[in-house]
Amino acid sequence: MKIAVIGGGNIGGVLIQEIVRRRLARYVSLVDVKGPDLSKGKCLDIAEGAPIISSDVVVEGAKEYDVIAGADLVINTAGVPRAARPDGTIPTREELLATNLKITDAVSEGISKFCPKAIVISIANPLDAIVYRLNMNLKPSRERLMGMAGVLDSSRYRYFVAKEAGVSLENVEAIVLGGHGDDMLPIRSACRIAGMPVEKFVTAEKLDAIEARTRQAGGEVVKLLGSGSAFVSPAWAALEMAEAIIYDKKKIMPVCTQLKGEYGVDGLFIGVPVVLGAKGIEKIIVMDLTEKEKEAFAKSIASVKKSSDEVLSVAK
Ligand code: LAC
Repeated sequence: MKIAVIGGGNIGGVLIQEIVRRRLARYVSLVDVKGPDLSKGKCLDIAEGAPIISSDVVVEGAKEYDVIAGADLVINTAGVPRAARPDGTIPTREELLATNLKITDAVSEGISKFCPKAIVISIANPLDAIVYRLNMNLKPSRERLMGMAGVLDSSRYRYFVAKEAGVSLENVEAIVLGGHGDDMLPIRSACRIAGMPVEKFVTAEKLDAIEARTRQAGGEVVKLLGSGSAFVSPAWAALEMAEAIIYDKKKIMPVCTQLKGEYGVDGLFIGVPVVLGAKGIEKIIVMDLTEKEKEAFAKSIASVKKSSDEVLSVAK
């Protein structure tokens, strides 16, 4: 097994570190075009520490894409993150689109050339639109291309619910659907604490506040950090997906995938629950949503459609 990480920024750095620590593959490589040789430096740092943690994973970084040759799994992080503006306001993820599309086209070329058969998990923002572009460029089978957002958004929801309920977060199960934008959809009817409905433990008013905070959670971290966005939790979330694929777990989690009629959506990439296993997305699960949830989902679909239409209008 060889895993390739594209983009040696904060998320890429955590990914490489964790892949080596968890021994998820025999080979892991990192590519980033930044000089003097950012990814080589990051990988050398980790490789030199590997004897301390007795990890025999072969780790290699380079500026050229040939370092990802033959990868079975690609995790794409390449793109600029959000940063607070000088006046303290936070741009939306969608405002990154123009810059990150160009980067995505270069990423696509690298994947096409060096590991066209790989399963691809993408993290770069605006999440759903970038995956849409990767799909236009790579034209993979539906199972092999996906975006990471729902696992992170659901983890944030779980954390807030666990804190409010005063219980272990291991007891909290939750799912967030839709696009990875401010219209994302925490599904209250699917939120359970030790198998019981969340409303038994947390008031409706508090849940409203928690769901609003979940939708804005990425921006909250951007504001606090001052530069860049969350990077540890997004990396862990992508690795949750990677492990389901590597170990053929058939694990259900919300993943950004291309819908072909499910949920009444045709062609867009959007977050819904799927079964993840060795083939990638092995099944798409259509949830029963309440009328209110259906309305909110439609709003999220409209936002994703808007940024995906922009992707279509930007020629390669
Ligand atoms: C976030 C970014 C990574 O939600 O999208 O923090």
